[in-house]
Amino acid sequence: MNVLRFSDLCAQGKVRGERVFIRADLNVPQDDAGNITEDTRIRASVPCITMALDAGAAVMVTSHLGRPTEGEFKPEDSLAPVAKRLGELLGREVPLVSNWVGGVDVRPGQVVLLENCRLNKGEKKNDPELARKMAALCDIFVHDAFGTAHRAEASTYGIAQYAKIACAGPLLAAEIDAISKALANPKRPLAAIVAGSKVSTKLTILKSLSRNVDQLIVGGGIANTFMLAAGLKIGKSLAEANLVGEAKAVIEAMKDRGAEVPIPTDVVTAKTFAADAAATVKAATEVEDDDLILDIGPQTARKLADQLKSAGTIVWNGPVGVFEFDAFAKGTETIARAIAQSSAFSIAGGGDTLAAIAKYGIEKDVSYISTGGGAFLEVLEGKTLPAFEILQKRALG
Ligand code: 3PG
Repeated sequence: MNVLRFSDLCAQGKVRGERVFIRADLNVPQDDAGNITEDTRIRASVPCITMALDAGAAVMVTSHLGRPTEGEFKPEDSLAPVAKRLGELLGREVPLVSNWVGGVDVRPGQVVLLENCRLNKGEKKNDPELARKMAALCDIFVHDAFGTAHRAEASTYGIAQYAKIACAGPLLAAEIDAISKALANPKRPLAAIVAGSKVSTKLTILKSLSRNVDQLIVGGGIANTFMLAAGLKIGKSLAEANLVGEAKAVIEAMKDRGAEVPIPTDVVTAKTFAADAAATVKAATEVEDDDLILDIGPQTARKLADQLKSAGTIVWNGPVGVFEFDAFAKGTETIARAIAQSSAFSIAGGGDTLAAIAKYGIEKDVSYISTGGGAFLEVLEGKTLPAFEILQKRALG
């Protein structure tokens, strides 16, 4: 991808003494008391900030947190807990600056965090006046917010249009490099796991991947719709009968290319959706009218695991069963462990997938874990994200 990279500017000595504005994605989950419950995104943003400080810049960092109402500050929308955690990770105090659009006092070697950028009026709609004001705060704009790369907002898009220099931070660059390695020029066979409750939310992804991957492994409610398309009964399992035609089209498109959508040959069912419901393993042809399919069966899981172990590249989005309930978690665990053991280049993304990775402790065995939720999905759909579109435009001069 032809974008200017912040690491190159630093290496060329072009950052010393400059005012650098970093758009990070520090949108982290919090409990009711405001405590951060998971800080991956903050940790992932540290290398860019350190890079800027080491290069001698005056550093401003901002992010959104949640979806606040513009112009209406509420304490729960504040980045204060993020400033604290960032300070701990950087080993220095990170002052939090409010009302910053008109000017920011920061010197080379210093870093400040600019309060929740979604509190600024015009942020969501990418108001040009707001974007111009933000651009005027800096010499170099660094987009390092992959999780927000699918949004065209004033602090992610407009500022990149108007800043003197606009470039990609190391996290944004690493994300797109990993996704390109997986999808644009993959080592084959390329296997993708796309799971989740609804085909409708991932239909574009399924269609896009069906043109590229060698195995398209479906799971969850999505697999149920594909089972219907394959002529199997699914009892009262979650599925979208109106999308059976689309599922059939995906199966056919894959077949035409000599690729496949493996349909489960056995499943784990229950009579009710509950953690303590009795789990029954049965052949996919034996599902009863009052059954709920809550996981793939052991035979299917083993077959998929074997395929994954011999894959060259694996893209993973979504657990294949209700892995939150132990009795229905074995399919997802088998898939997770197969990915961990595989020598394939593996990339995973999406909230539930990250939760599964954490549950089985395989973080270090997945080649790349994306910080993007919606952004990761949109890349899988084959879309060019606004962040990359504008940075490429700026790179052309
Ligand atoms: C996310 O959590 O996926 C990103 O931070 C984007 O947040 P948004 O969906 O509120 O734009």
